[in-house]
Amino acid sequence: MYRIIERRMIVPNLHELTVEAPQVTESVRPGNFVIVRPDADGERIPLSVADWDAEAGTVTSIFLQVGASTSKLARRRPGDTIPTYAGPLGQETEIRKYGTVLCVGGCYGIGSVYPVARALREAGNTVIALLEARSSYLLYWQDKFRSVAERTLELTRDGSAGYKGHITRLPEILTLEKIAPDLIVANGCTLQMMLVSRVTKPLGIKTIVNMNPIMIDGTGMCGVCRLTVAGKTKFACVDGPDFDGHEVDWEEFLKRRKTYNPEEVHPLRKSGCASHF
Ligand code: FES
Repeated sequence: MYRIIERRMIVPNLHELTVEAPQVTESVRPGNFVIVRPDADGERIPLSVADWDAEAGTVTSIFLQVGASTSKLARRRPGDTIPTYAGPLGQETEIRKYGTVLCVGGCYGIGSVYPVARALREAGNTVIALLEARSSYLLYWQDKFRSVAERTLELTRDGSAGYKGHITRLPEILTLEKIAPDLIVANGCTLQMMLVSRVTKPLGIKTIVNMNPIMIDGTGMCGVCRLTVAGKTKFACVDGPDFDGHEVDWEEFLKRRKTYNPEEVHPLRKSGCASHF
């Protein structure tokens, strides 16, 4: 059993979960995920790792409360135990010196892109963060980003913080802020990552996306996270979650995604995360 150290709602529907799991901290890297089960009957939930403390042996994730399993997890309290906390899983984000890297985070992805930003900074990159949400009250961890990023920018659809509008304003923001990234890393809902990839392709800026949101069981067994990347079939949970956003077949992905509309997109729409679907 694994002990919950902290579980709190940090913004509406988004929870921060810290679990005692020293076996994970021994080898965890940015981009990895863990599999969590809230109780013995619960489904497996793949959660991106958002932070860890190697000395304390604790791992932190941010999760969106969208269905029965994540609602169960959202009811867990500090001191409770959970039966499954397996990881680290997935391929790590490639960390090396690129030059200037823009880390884009939205929803749960603000959390998951944080360790990527930190590791890129430690590798000698100039890191700039762009945190996006529908409104300012859905942004979080700005102080953590300010500690690793040279600049932390905000983008809200209602203009209540930072730039106003959608992520499609990214090219304009890069011009206004005089940023010429050598790499963009985007973590967030699939629509955000698709749009980032679409607007950066004509600019020729390499863009890495993290396809964690399309996973269900995270084991390579259910097949739900299948996608085509550079003409080849890949599974986000085994071959990713990171992929080159310009090589993902987004059209095919969107077609397949429609199959899951009632189960997946509707709860996301209710949560406000995918209000633009
Ligand atoms: Fe089921 Fe990847 S999440 S195969």
